[in-house]
Amino acid sequence: MKTEEEEKLKVSKIRQGTVIDHIRPGLAPLVLKILGIDRGFPESVIVAMNVTSEKLGRKDIVKVENQILDQATIDKIAIISPQATINIIKDYQVIEKRQVALPDELIGIVKCPNRSCITNSPEEGVRSRFHTERRATGVKLRCHYCEELVELDEVELLER
Ligand code: CTP
Ligand code: ZN
Repeated sequence: MKTEEEEKLKVSKIRQGTVIDHIRPGLAPLVLKILGIDRGFPESVIVAMNVTSEKLGRKDIVKVENQILDQATIDKIAIISPQATINIIKDYQVIEKRQVALPDELIGIVKCPNRSCITNSPEEGVRSRFHTERRATGVKLRCHYCEELVELDEVELLER
């Protein structure tokens, strides 16, 4: 079995940009979709999947060159992978590291599953808005307009 140090060498370091680390194993493709890789994403991206991690056993990593992620992107990553960390890289050094966090309110991020919700009528022009409800049993999202409750693992993300 490879040591964690050897595993790290499988994926090159980046000079500048953002490393999304500790992504739930298997979910890197979803992170790429969130980044908009299929919609003309302008920078190089390096992906590692199912690499060993001391903390998590296994994890995925996505490295984005020359880009700082906007808050909406970080919020979406927090929804699909609450353990993920965002590392800002400058001149090959990690200059900032933080864990993603689900905000109390999500605007324009999640599609309401209720088809008759006002946010699903384009002619109304009302942006999706959800409140985070934290319970002992887990986190759920509630639509501000129709009060529909959505489980985190059932969330459908809106494209930017
Ligand atoms: N990284 C990178 N390019 C760099 C510096 C770091 O791709 N120039 C990556 C590392 O490979 C790692 C992540 O950014 O996946 C965080 O780097 P670092 O903080 O050095 O690693 P760890 O201490 O293992 O991070 P943590 O404690 O968050 O697990
Ligand atoms: Zn709704």
